Amino acid sequence: MSEEIQTSWKFVDGDGRFLMRHPEHTSYLYFPLASEGGMKSSISPELRGDAKVDQNTFLLVPASVEDLHNSSFGRNFWVFTDKGAVWSVSGCSALQRAAGNSAEADEVSLQAGFLWHTVTRRNKRLGLKADVTNFTPVGYKHTEFMRVVITNVGEQTQTLTPTAAVPLFCRSADSVRDHRHVTSLLHRIRTTSRGIIVHPTLSFDERGHRRNRVSYAIFGAAADGSGPIGYFPVMHDYVGEGGSLDWPRAITANLPPQAGPGEQFQGYEAMGAMRFAPIILAPGESTEYLLVMGVEECASLERLESYLTSEAFGKELSSTQQYWESRLSRLHINTGNRDFDLWFKWVTLQPMLRRIYGCSFLPYHDYGRGGRGWRDLWQDCLSLLIMEPDGVRQLIHNNFAGVRLDGSNATIIGDGPGEFIADRNHIARVWMDHGAWPWLTTKQYIDYTGDCGFLFEQQTYFRDSHTRRCRGIDTQWNPQSDTLQLTRDGEPYQGTVLEHLLVQHLTAFFNVGENNNILLEGADWNDGLDMATNRGESVAFTSLYGHNLVEMSEVLEEIHGSQQMHSTMLGDECVALLDTLGGKIDYDSVDAKKELLDRYIESTAFAIGGGKREVPLLAIAEDLRRKGLWILEHVRNHEWIQGSEGYAWFNGYYDDDGKPFEGDTPSGVRMTLAGQVFAIMSGAATSEQLGEIVRSVNRYLWDESVGGCRLNTDFGDIPSNMGRCYGFAYGHKENGAMFCHMAVMYAYALFSRGLHCEGRRVLDAIYGQCMDFPTSRMYPGIPEYFDARGRGMYPYLTGSASWFLLVMLTQVFGVRGSMGDLVVAPRISAKDFNENGEASIETYFAERRIRVRYCKTNGSSGDACSVRRITRSGSEIPWRERSGAAYVPRDVITAFAPQDVHELCVELA
Ligand code: G1P
Repeated sequence: MSEEIQTSWKFVDGDGRFLMRHPEHTSYLYFPLASEGGMKSSISPELRGDAKVDQNTFLLVPASVEDLHNSSFGRNFWVFTDKGAVWSVSGCSALQRAAGNSAEADEVSLQAGFLWHTVTRRNKRLGLKADVTNFTPVGYKHTEFMRVVITNVGEQTQTLTPTAAVPLFCRSADSVRDHRHVTSLLHRIRTTSRGIIVHPTLSFDERGHRRNRVSYAIFGAAADGSGPIGYFPVMHDYVGEGGSLDWPRAITANLPPQAGPGEQFQGYEAMGAMRFAPIILAPGESTEYLLVMGVEECASLERLESYLTSEAFGKELSSTQQYWESRLSRLHINTGNRDFDLWFKWVTLQPMLRRIYGCSFLPYHDYGRGGRGWRDLWQDCLSLLIMEPDGVRQLIHNNFAGVRLDGSNATIIGDGPGEFIADRNHIARVWMDHGAWPWLTTKQYIDYTGDCGFLFEQQTYFRDSHTRRCRGIDTQWNPQSDTLQLTRDGEPYQGTVLEHLLVQHLTAFFNVGENNNILLEGADWNDGLDMATNRGESVAFTSLYGHNLVEMSEVLEEIHGSQQMHSTMLGDECVALLDTLGGKIDYDSVDAKKELLDRYIESTAFAIGGGKREVPLLAIAEDLRRKGLWILEHVRNHEWIQGSEGYAWFNGYYDDDGKPFEGDTPSGVRMTLAGQVFAIMSGAATSEQLGEIVRSVNRYLWDESVGGCRLNTDFGDIPSNMGRCYGFAYGHKENGAMFCHMAVMYAYALFSRGLHCEGRRVLDAIYGQCMDFPTSRMYPGIPEYFDARGRGMYPYLTGSASWFLLVMLTQVFGVRGSMGDLVVAPRISAKDFNENGEASIETYFAERRIRVRYCKTNGSSGDACSVRRITRSGSEIPWRERSGAAYVPRDVITAFAPQDVHELCVELA
């Protein structure tokens, strides 16, 4: 029995490139290769994974995680030697797989960087080495480039027969099982002088087939520019009777090519296999092969053949690397821990990846059909504001067009900015947290830019067949018509961004259950809480709405105070939600709230009047404050649980029987992290309660072996009156995993309330788990969660990356905006300083590149937090102290020259 080989990756330069030996001894590893043009590939150490443009346009066979090691579909390239040996550069051959860890086995290592992937494989006995590099070039829409360099590392001259072999899927992921064979009948395959092009005649969809316009191709050439000497374009002929993709007859029997250029085949599974002329390699000699795979309209595809040269490959690779480097250069940190700084760089890439991939399309993310959900869209904007600020104003503005007048929103989001698609499948579900996220992003936008005018921009509202927060269907609604809310005159109704935010928050405020917290409806942040749609309540998100209401009122007061504006126009119907403007209602009365909401919902269920009323900003502010404070007080006083073991925390939910979900139960203590995070972040928790919560989290949720605080305790039984997630095994995904998104938000909440040591402990535990490769088994970055065994799951596409970025920048380094001014309020730990007693962050503020360099001064304590002096080029810059933070007026920053890097040296006491 061979022993298990455990290796880890390590960073090999200051740019985040990493190296890993024996990557094939870890399962489930994959790396993203994506381009802004929309190509979405994934690649495993054995070159498996897939490549696609969208759900209906898969170039390679769709791959879920289990396929990464169990399936033979994937990129391959074979060498047949003059001694009759068969060797795959991907390792995907029956013989190489059987070699395991024996002396016969290949030696494999992997290197990857932004955003390229190279696997090196060497076989001592055969005297062969291959370096295979893949990337998706930044300049081309839907292509993946691959280069295979073969070296004779033996002692004798060898004659090698090379064959590239990539199975081509060329259709929708829906056809993996459904009509897989029938859809291959649509294939029209033809060979050219450089490759194979597949053009399916129709897009297969039983609801209505359409003529297909897209073609799929693979082209290849040898280093001297010569094309293949022949092809195996049909899967069946390549594999052969009784053969398989990891032992194909075309290779193992060294069969002559099935076709030359200019031939056609119809109605078969396509194979992108091409034979190159035999090559003689003396010891130490190398040769290379270039492959280009793409998805385009047919005419543009053949153009790709011109990239089959070493120069073109090298040029495209370096511009792709430069592109990602420049995107990532917008934010970087320098602490005493270089590994942490580089790991963080990978985290900052992740929100960009989610912009491209959405929440589908990497092997773990084998659900959904592309696009992002509403809350992900908004939260990713939090980091895009920092990493890709161009066009963010427009993007956020467009997103508001997805709000319905009943406070719910469109859930099907297209690829284009602000593209919301009517739900024609009638999936009626409202996630009660959705209304809260847009304010967080908008507030951050305003803080960074000072652009309060944004709140008063006009925007339309979304409309489809769902009415009354998805409790009703408008049978009159014409599914073919637009998705715009109309007035009774048939005009698109528009309101300010502020009005959209008010609609979202005020409808939520009134939409309470019997315990006077906001109803859970279809679920909240935890998508799995979907079985308490009647009586369930989310106290957790009630707190967040409360926080937002108070914050919105403060912003309106500031706008009023700065004389920018004193009143605004609101739709007649919306004004009714501001009950303090006339006939205040009793917020303790659930019935009174429901009544008011029902009246409003009825008044907006179909076309609306379109009339507007001028309302003073201060009156709106007062109304919002009253509601916000009521919520915070209510949660503080009614939802605090005293457990029997002397611990206390907040109840985060009510179940579908209207009972508190958390606390002591016969099957054990029930506690959720979400219930604590938003009570802390919102200020509902008093300082005393805060300390108690931390103690309880540490007692019930903290688990060092999985990287920190779990999402919930083990409820033992399956509460069927809360949600499907409790059907998941404990410790997995939304049932008690160490779910990074919520844990990072917990850290953020702790920082925001001054508990930075506790907050940092949470961040450090996550980082530590990510870096503990033997347990977490993942490349650099943050995963969605760590499972019951501490393994990192669903890497790359997770909202936790945005929040990690945010907490590092705005809390740990304390560099953030406040109504357009720069705030410097570090919460750096002693360990963040390098040997010179310095730590720095480079970012942009007011379109100026700034490096904030923190220096400890004599006498400063380990964790340095308070600012003593800020200088630039030796001269002090003006700032004022407010609540322990340094405020630098925006015009001080905008006076800096736009093109330079400006270092602000911050002396800490
Ligand atoms: C995912 C979803 C997110 C949801 C969360 C919990 O988290 O994307 O919308 O709130 O699960 O159900 P993520 O992968 O972003 O960390």
